[in-house]
Amino acid sequence: MGDGEVNRKRKRGRGGKSRKKRSNEDSSDQKSPNPPPVNNRSVATADGNRNDGKKKSQLSSRSSSLLDKMRAKLSGGHFRMLNEKLYTCTGKEALRYFSDDPSLFNVYHAGYQEQMLHWPEQPVNIIMKWLKNKSPSLVVADFGCGDARLAKNVKNKVYSFDLVANDPSVIACDMSNTPLESSSIDVAVFCLSLMGVNYQSFIQEANRVLKPGGWLLIAEVKSRFDPNTKGADPKVFIKAVCKLGFTSELKDFRNKMFILLYFKKKDQQSSDGKQIQWPELKPCLYKRR
Ligand SMILES: C[S@@+](CC[C@H](N)C(=O)[O-])C[C@H]1O[C@@H](n2cnc3c(N)ncnc32)[C@H](O)[C@@H]1O
Repeated sequence: MGDGEVNRKRKRGRGGKSRKKRSNEDSSDQKSPNPPPVNNRSVATADGNRNDGKKKSQLSSRSSSLLDKMRAKLSGGHFRMLNEKLYTCTGKEALRYFSDDPSLFNVYHAGYQEQMLHWPEQPVNIIMKWLKNKSPSLVVADFGCGDARLAKNVKNKVYSFDLVANDPSVIACDMSNTPLESSSIDVAVFCLSLMGVNYQSFIQEANRVLKPGGWLLIAEVKSRFDPNTKGADPKVFIKAVCKLGFTSELKDFRNKMFILLYFKKKDQQSSDGKQIQWPELKPCLYKRR
């Protein structure tokens, strides 16, 4: 065997071995009921990636819903703080407070709307219905109008007042001092808006701008008028309004959440309002939900 032969053998041997090996691998490939390991691994990796993606998106949606909850808690707390502020300061202070940072008004109203979702009925809707049954020529002043829903839903001319004008139709002012002419209005509305500690000056302003025979419509949170829970005695409140120069036309205590008191302005004014004993109205503080 010459070197050439050995080399040939070696080459054949190597070649044969490698052919055999290759054919073994080939046959095992064909026989194997499972996909090749590399493929297995690649599928696993792909699945793993998909699972990772799923996990990541689950985690991120869980953390974003946690963030949402935290944000809601913070804004709920902020709303309750602003709500308490409105109930425990004068109208003048409230105007200054919200004029300094009008964005607070949106925080307050987002929280207020959220609270209202839990009320089976909205008092503003009842006032709307009442107005729709009267002449559309009646001129209305909505004291503490919020988002001016009343003005947007009736045919009447409505002057809407609030601390911040978040709608072009709203006049920003402290409602104890509106720009309206005396005796120029047919209907004055206070829908859940007797909030300041000087609430009586809001009613006195309504008295000033109302025409004789004009209507004063008040919707207020029921608990503020429940003597059993340290609320005001509604009789004392009604007496005070009547002493100012009104007659009581309707008292509706049927709703669980709010009361409705409707008055008519007398033709002759009997008092300048100075000697009237107004009951204290406790703040309406909302619970954490
Ligand atoms: C509880 S919200 C009710 C809003 C609206 N009337 C309704 O029924 O949806 C009371 C509103 O009265 C406004 N308000 C409170 N004190 C005020 C004041 N002194 N002058 C003007 N608006 C006042 C608040 O800014 C708030 O928008």
